[in-house]
Amino acid sequence: MKRQVLYIAGHTGLVGSALLRRTIRDENYAVITRTRAELDLMNSDSVAEFMQQESPDRVIIAAGRVGGILANQTYCGEFIHQNLTIQNNLIHQSMKAGVKSLVFLGSSCMYPKHCPQPMSESALLTGLLEETNLPYAIAKISGWGMCQAYNQQYGMNYMTAIPANLYGRNDNFHPQDSHVIPGMIRRFHEAKIQQLKEVVVWGTGKPKREFLLSDDLADALLFLLEKNYHSSQPINIGSGQEVSISELAETIKEIVGFDGHLIFDTHKPDGMPLKRLDNSQMEKLAWSAKTSLAEGIQKVYEWCLNSKIFEKIPFY
Ligand SMILES: NC(=O)c1ccc[n+]([C@@H]2O[C@H](COP(=O)([O-])OP(=O)(O)OC[C@H]3O[C@@H](n4cnc5c(N)ncnc54)[C@H](OP(=O)(O)O)[C@@H]3O)[C@@H](O)[C@H]2O)c1
Repeated sequence: MKRQVLYIAGHTGLVGSALLRRTIRDENYAVITRTRAELDLMNSDSVAEFMQQESPDRVIIAAGRVGGILANQTYCGEFIHQNLTIQNNLIHQSMKAGVKSLVFLGSSCMYPKHCPQPMSESALLTGLLEETNLPYAIAKISGWGMCQAYNQQYGMNYMTAIPANLYGRNDNFHPQDSHVIPGMIRRFHEAKIQQLKEVVVWGTGKPKREFLLSDDLADALLFLLEKNYHSSQPINIGSGQEVSISELAETIKEIVGFDGHLIFDTHKPDGMPLKRLDNSQMEKLAWSAKTSLAEGIQKVYEWCLNSKIFEKIPFY
């Protein structure tokens, strides 16, 4: 097989770094990366010049502006502007450079707020979106729309993948802005170091969520590229395992080795009782995630300790 020239946009992030780990020593791929200092993806001229020069066979867009609810609300203008600009630049300049195969990463917030569970791809655009991250969701829906239109008009194979909630190495462990798993790993670790008696978790602990290790997502994306999977409909990629917030907290508590108590602050909101993707399309293609939640969290916690990530970002 001819070596595929693969450009990973956003290789320093959670998803991009998992893609890089998976491909860097794979002889089927010649991987291209650029740091933000080398190539600002907000700059359309620079992206055009880069794409014309490198002319990759395949592009995966793992670059964008990502964050939790607070960041999405505080910086809603930046979220929509940066995501739209980065994806527009990359999708359009890929087309102009003749890149036939591209993966755009969507998000489960593209689904309607009151979507039936598990969320099936056919439910997209059937209802109103959640308000808290509306600008981000609209950018993601636009990216999918652009891939679909470029497939139709220019005969490209630009697919949109919708991952479940992700966690992994190079995640955001910042106290104000992290997602649930890195946030909990950090809080339990700090509680252990400070010998606290308890850790408070928001809500009743009953809501159930689905999480996917970034390395499993990387495996799925390369699986789809290698299969030459072709569809203008997005495809969900999840672990197929849902876990309650209390089970998640217990798992992290045990892995981190915090021996105090878990307190559930039931005055805080719970959110939706269940959120998970319908993974039947990936199952039909005979792909499934390989890492259990406990194994994944163990790996991430070891990485946190080895990379001294908690020392780089100040405590709460
Ligand atoms: N995290 C999740 O749970 C999740 C779930 C579903 C979908 N996704 C999607 O997956 C994709 C990747 O998410 P992630 O969590 O891996 O994000 P991330 O960790 O924040 O990484 C984002 C990447 O984009 C790069 N980037 C941002 N702006 C740039 C610019 N102007 N020029 C060059 N590079 C730029 C960042 O570079 P720097 O290192 O320089 O900042 C970083 O490499 C996003 O599209 C996201 O919507 C994520």
